[in-house]
Amino acid sequence: MSEQNYEDFISTVSHELRTPLTSIRGFSQTMLSSWDKLDDTSKKKFIKIIEEQSNRLISLVENMLSVTKLQSDKDTYIYKETDAPSIINTVISLVKSQYPDKTFETEFAQNAPTILVDRDKFQQVMMNLIENAAKYSCGNDSIKISAGFCDECDFLSVKVSNVGIKIEKEDFEKIFTKFSRIDNPLTRKVQGSGLGLYITKSIVDKMSGKISVSSEDCGNNRANTVFEVRFPVSNVETQAREKCKQ
Ligand SMILES: Nc1ncnc2c1ncn2[C@@H]1O[C@H](COP(=O)(O)OP(=O)(O)OP(=O)(O)O)[C@@H](O)[C@H]1O
Ligand SMILES: [Mg+2]
Repeated sequence: MSEQNYEDFISTVSHELRTPLTSIRGFSQTMLSSWDKLDDTSKKKFIKIIEEQSNRLISLVENMLSVTKLQSDKDTYIYKETDAPSIINTVISLVKSQYPDKTFETEFAQNAPTILVDRDKFQQVMMNLIENAAKYSCGNDSIKISAGFCDECDFLSVKVSNVGIKIEKEDFEKIFTKFSRIDNPLTRKVQGSGLGLYITKSIVDKMSGKISVSSEDCGNNRANTVFEVRFPVSNVETQAREKCKQ
């Protein structure tokens, strides 16, 4: 990292850390100084804010550790034959517990091949994409996750789609870069550090996969946004398919 990039990184990180910390300090101070004057509802509201801001700090620190790890040689990948749908189902139940009002639909091809990936890293990728779909969707449409074989290549394609605010074409590249968030009314309302997709793309690239996005208007000022990731099918799987073709 160049000195200028390093300085920019430190200044963005400090800013990102300061916002939740200031809020935690402010609400704790208010409660300590006005404890007897506050009713139970207000106390509960303030404690809820402190909890949310602490969660924000934890996810920020975890994301920053992931970024640092990505840049070091110690970040080892252990490739194993992996059944994508079972990991995706685990991730969905984790996201569902965070977003109980959201609904999820899955469509896994019966012949979905196993892929050759680091399982923890694959889980991290799915977590970022499915969490984003829940975070940035509006209305009652379900979040859809599908997995199937790409016929033209030896890849498994996983698609995560949601209905929400449109991502403009000119932002398609930007969202995969460090600390980038799109400024719109919904993103302003939800918290995020703008690191999730940067980490996701770096992991996908390292595992010889591909990531792409599309966002098409679907009426009511909303868009259907689809993130697609493709991962190489495991060798065992490819050989079995070749045999079937013979
Ligand atoms: N499914 C989606 N629909 C609409 N916009 C999205 C979607 N996913 C991502 N975005 C946009 O891309 C930006 C970058 O996403 P990214 O996951 O990198 O960061 P984040 O969600 O803001 O923060 P975090 O680091 O906590 O993930 C988001 O701030 C949002 O503006
Ligand atoms: Mg995110």
